[in-house]
Amino acid sequence: MKSLKHLLVVVAGLVVGMTAQARTFEEIKASGKIIVATEGAYPPFNFFQGSKLTGFEVELAEAMVKKMGLALEWKALSFDALLAGLRQDRWDMVIASFGITEERAKAVTFTNPHYCSGGVIVSRDGSIRTPDMLAGKTVAVQTGSTYMENVKKLPNIKEVKNFPQDTDARAALMNGRVDAWVSDRFVVKNAIESNPNAPLKQGGYLFVEKVATAVKKGNSSLAAAVDKALAEVMADGTYKTLSEKYMKEDIRCQ
Ligand code: ARG
Repeated sequence: MKSLKHLLVVVAGLVVGMTAQARTFEEIKASGKIIVATEGAYPPFNFFQGSKLTGFEVELAEAMVKKMGLALEWKALSFDALLAGLRQDRWDMVIASFGITEERAKAVTFTNPHYCSGGVIVSRDGSIRTPDMLAGKTVAVQTGSTYMENVKKLPNIKEVKNFPQDTDARAALMNGRVDAWVSDRFVVKNAIESNPNAPLKQGGYLFVEKVATAVKKGNSSLAAAVDKALAEVMADGTYKTLSEKYMKEDIRCQ
């Protein structure tokens, strides 16, 4: 009897969990505040300056949320926890340089892209420039990233080394534990500019991608509100100012 009750409670809990609805834009508006998650370890897009979360995506989200007439509460978590948290309604939106992929689009709803970029190959001395040249090499990538997926697809890689944080993948290259690092073109550009004497030389692209914010799968009212706010900051000069502040160029998709 006791165990049957127990079972019923567990089943009821599961049903509630499965049918829990994401907050619609109207519900978020009524509460006055949107909860947005990011990583905070991916300069120049999202990172901590001391205890302050900042970066292109952080400032862009703040500008967009202002257009939406909302306050913003940030959550900073590890990269691989971000999309799963949408499914569990732990936050309303994720902005953390997620490239739009078919696989991810099965699990979340992407908004319009806020930038276009791609994964580039980096080595210490610049000798590895093309995907072919990665044959027989050990390559560092961030766990769960599109860099990991695309490197794994290459036929003759010696080893793919995964790191929970992209900055650790970069460090592995710099201290000689791997032959190459694959990361975002603007992340790499930023790393080279902020460490001009570091052994980091950029080669060519491995792939290109469109990067977007994500909301819970099917939350179309929120996705539409985010798209509208993005179009507004792109039209009024805010986007350009922020993009030039962090990347020295306008990185919107052309
Ligand atoms: N653009 C890549 C991807 O979609 C990497 C994103 C990494 N983002 C981050 N906040 N570390 O997987």
